[in-house]
Amino acid sequence: MMSDEAIIIKWKAPSNIALIKYWGKKGHQLPENCSLSFSLEKSVTITSHAFQKKHQPDNRITLEYYFHGQRNPSFEKKIALFLNDLISKMPFLADYMLVFRSENNFPHSTGIASSASSMSALALCLVSMEEIIWQKKLSSDDFFRRASVIARLGSGSASRSVYGGLVTWGESPFVAASSDEYATPFPLSKESRLRQISDIILIVTSKEKKVSSTLGHSLMKQHPFREGRIDQANKNMHQITLAIRNNDYHTLAAIAENEALSLHALLMTSSPDGLLLKPNTLSIIEAIRRFRDQSGLDLFFTIDAGPNVHLIYFEDQRHWVLPFVKEVLSLFCENGQWIDDKIGAGPQLLTPKIKF
Ligand code: DP6
Repeated sequence: MMSDEAIIIKWKAPSNIALIKYWGKKGHQLPENCSLSFSLEKSVTITSHAFQKKHQPDNRITLEYYFHGQRNPSFEKKIALFLNDLISKMPFLADYMLVFRSENNFPHSTGIASSASSMSALALCLVSMEEIIWQKKLSSDDFFRRASVIARLGSGSASRSVYGGLVTWGESPFVAASSDEYATPFPLSKESRLRQISDIILIVTSKEKKVSSTLGHSLMKQHPFREGRIDQANKNMHQITLAIRNNDYHTLAAIAENEALSLHALLMTSSPDGLLLKPNTLSIIEAIRRFRDQSGLDLFFTIDAGPNVHLIYFEDQRHWVLPFVKEVLSLFCENGQWIDDKIGAGPQLLTPKIKF
């Protein structure tokens, strides 16, 4: 489809894991509450984007989408819908033939948000394309902010994946320059221990989950605890920003666990309900709490909208944590499977920067 004249852009973008959960939407992909996550280092999507001017523009999106080297009609359909919606913001998209080739370096359905990494990688490619089409270099702040807006329209949590480190999304009086439209990096002091926060993802099951996040968000609209949830998330956001500032890891752990369990309590009390936790999920939670009580280590769990558990700890305690994972927690995992990850530096452009 493409000739040698096609331009190619390639971005690598991370997934992220939320400590304060985005759960419930309003308006056009805007969050009901402010969320906080950290971007992962190893769990990433790499997307290459080739584009070439059409001979005859036809006002519609023309694309091919490949996933792990295979043309993927279901992803292609989803991305075509997303790009058609974007034409009002990026009208040039209809003038080009677009080919995306995307790869995840982590297994499917493992509790790692693939929509976060894939939609942010895609958004970064689109903003790079926009710079080339308009021959206008954006400042770094403007570039990533625009990418965050575009990523958000594809998947809410993807708005946070255009940055590394700790990231918030959604307006909050406790976070400077926060917005519902885009994510904002959360500043950490040089000596903050959160710079070495780590994540071991315990795979209870890799089966496809029954309730998608998108459906879960929509069930919040009629949820009997909707108001209470928004209030709780705002309070948790306030408390966690104080805990981070005061290096109070005990409070940080308590809030993160409260958020994970609240998310599932909301899912279980939705109509229809989403019961995603498995017996082994609960066994892992109990084992983590027991080990924490016995060892006094600063570790805790969080869970996304699925059965797999993220064990969060600090790298300086890794030599205590790893034997516990191998000897105890892995027994509750499907085929003993777990993924070793940690906080990462954010996305990376893998093709040379274009000079203007
Ligand atoms: C539980 O970002 O996947 O992971 O905006 O519909 O794509 P859409 O939803 P998505 O929701 C993520 C929900 C969550 C919590 C979080 O990441 O904050």
